[in-house]
Amino acid sequence: MDAFREPRKIWEVRITSLPPLMIGAGVLSKIGGQAAALGMTRALFICDPTMKEMGRADEVIKQLKKYKVETVLFSDIEADPPIEEIDRLGDLYHREDCDGIIAMGGGSSMDAAKALSVRVTHEGHMSEFESLAGGTAKIRNPLPPVICIPTTSGTGSEANTYAVLSDRERGIKFIIMSERIVPKLAIIDPELTSTLPKRLTAETGIDALAHCIEGYTGTLMPYHPYYSALAFYGIKLVGSSLPKVYADPGDLQARTDMAMAAVYGGVSFTKGLGVGHSLGHVIGARYHLPHGRAVTPSLLCFARFNEKACRQEFEDIAWTLNRSRNLEEGLLKLYDEIDAPTRFRDLGVPEEDLPRIAFEASKDVVNTVGNPAPVEERQLLELLRDFY
Ligand SMILES: [Fe+2]
Repeated sequence: MDAFREPRKIWEVRITSLPPLMIGAGVLSKIGGQAAALGMTRALFICDPTMKEMGRADEVIKQLKKYKVETVLFSDIEADPPIEEIDRLGDLYHREDCDGIIAMGGGSSMDAAKALSVRVTHEGHMSEFESLAGGTAKIRNPLPPVICIPTTSGTGSEANTYAVLSDRERGIKFIIMSERIVPKLAIIDPELTSTLPKRLTAETGIDALAHCIEGYTGTLMPYHPYYSALAFYGIKLVGSSLPKVYADPGDLQARTDMAMAAVYGGVSFTKGLGVGHSLGHVIGARYHLPHGRAVTPSLLCFARFNEKACRQEFEDIAWTLNRSRNLEEGLLKLYDEIDAPTRFRDLGVPEEDLPRIAFEASKDVVNTVGNPAPVEERQLLELLRDFY
């Protein structure tokens, strides 16, 4: 387990604030009163197209109306929202004279909402707010209230300080990070995730697990027992509940556990991510794959890559996950239960691209810097071949 091994060093352990989390089946019906209490009178409502099709967006609009909160609906959100889309949403927000933002969907909708809150209150190009380029300090104006309603249990964006955007000009994804973009409220209704297709349930669940595992062992903050505790409990929840929701999508108790695991993962990866996410990001971007699917075999690489560096931690994780003795074995057991892909060939990755993927993943500083073992391109390539 995590233990303080630096008698001569002083650490600053900061805990980022969580938004209030309203959790439970049917809690979506509280949206009207909550939005009004946050001072919203006209909200820009960003939602995934499927939520619109299923009538969930109309349900929210109706509830908001009861409390005299008008809505401007935007239901065409792109995956990994590009800067241009945030700019367009910014224009819409001002044109429609909105005073709050509501997002219902997966990571893309929620990240768009968080980035939009910066867009409508700050001058300058969105790329100026990239955290790696010192953008966090530039987010200093008060932001409008944001409510997030996750419809998957994966990214944890509803509770954390991050938003991921695409910069098409530079051909990259970049991160905005600030305590200020933590939503003002997260409404977590497991009924929303109970209609998720099985494959999406499995993929987003593995993403949540990857955040917890990589966060638990992340070395960006080598000592942070608070995040470690969240990550560890998140692993326990995924181990017990992901197979249950896969077998029975309507199991609301297990859906609630998965929602909490996503929150724990989304917060605890502040401690660091690793090669599971560096490989996942490169593969996801190159072949336009959903993030969770790209991360699934990549997490197996993470387990093997760091086997020696994290011997004790992995033993603890494997036991907590599903009473396995070894993390790789534990993951394979879980993947088998939820029919998750274990090989990069299963994702349609061409074998001849593996060297390029290893090169790009080894240069992904954001994720490699927190990996427990030092990252070498050669080793990544070996692993990509092992899991091809
Ligand atoms: Fe992720």
